[in-house]
Amino acid sequence: MNPVLEKYKKYEGKFREEEINRGASPDARSSVFGHTYSEQRIFKPTAKKEIEIISYRRQFIMKKGIGVEQIDKILDHRYTAGNWFRLDRGGRSLPGPTDWLKLKEILELDNKYDEKMTKTDYALQAVMDYPLGKNPGDMWSIKTDKISETHFAIFPEDLVKRIIKSSCPPDGVVLDPFAGSGTTGKVTMELGRKSIMIEINPEHVKIMEKRFKAGIRKLSNKW
Ligand SMILES: C[S@@+](CC[C@H](N)C(=O)[O-])C[C@H]1O[C@@H](n2cnc3c(N)ncnc32)[C@H](O)[C@@H]1O
Repeated sequence: MNPVLEKYKKYEGKFREEEINRGASPDARSSVFGHTYSEQRIFKPTAKKEIEIISYRRQFIMKKGIGVEQIDKILDHRYTAGNWFRLDRGGRSLPGPTDWLKLKEILELDNKYDEKMTKTDYALQAVMDYPLGKNPGDMWSIKTDKISETHFAIFPEDLVKRIIKSSCPPDGVVLDPFAGSGTTGKVTMELGRKSIMIEINPEHVKIMEKRFKAGIRKLSNKW
C-alpha cells in the first residue's frame, strides 16, 4: 500500500475492501478522510506529445484494420475509443492506464509508450470550501419576518441584508420607493450604509420612524 494511504487504514466504510477509495466522489472521500488522494498518471503530455502518441497509435489501428466501434465494444465503452485516435484539439484524448494496456493487446502495440502511459502516483485531492463562499443560486429559502406593528408583507431582514451586502458598496445609497415598515432602511443603517425611503402611507411612516429610532432624516414632510 502506498505510504500516504497507511493512515487511512482505519476507514470502515463501504469502500473498505478497496486499497484506494476510488468509488466515492471527491466530496464523499473528503467527508470520510478529510483530505484524500487520487491515482493519477504522472506523465502530463504537451499537445505536441499527445499528437505524437496518437499518430503512433493510428499506424497500429490502420495496420490491424479494426474500427473504433469494435474497440469500444471490446472495452465496454461508448463513443470513447474514437477520441483516442482523433488529432483535433477539441476531440482527442489519451486512454487511462488500464485502457492503454487493453488497447496494447488489441492493437499489438510495442512497449514504446508503456511507462509514460501507465505510470501513476497518488495526488492529494483536497476538497474544501471556497473562501469567498458560493454562488447563492436562483432560489433562496429565507424565513418570513414579523413585526409587532400592524403591517402587511414586510421583507425578511435576511433577504435585504444579502442583497445590500452583495450589491451596494459601503459608501452607496439604497433607495426603496415602497418602503412600508422600512425594513430596507433599518437593515441598510445596520450595515453602515445610507438609504432613502419613500412611503405614501403616513401610518407606515410612523412605523418606520419607530423602527429606525435614531439616524432617520426626513427628506419630505408633506403628509
Ligand atoms: C408591501 S409594502 C412594502 C413592505 C416593505 N418591504 C417592508 O419590509 O416593510 C408596499 C408599500 O408600498 C407603499 N406604496 C404603495 N404605493 C406607493 C406609492 N405610489 N408611493 C410610495 N409608497 C407606496 C404601500 O403603502 C406599502 O407600505
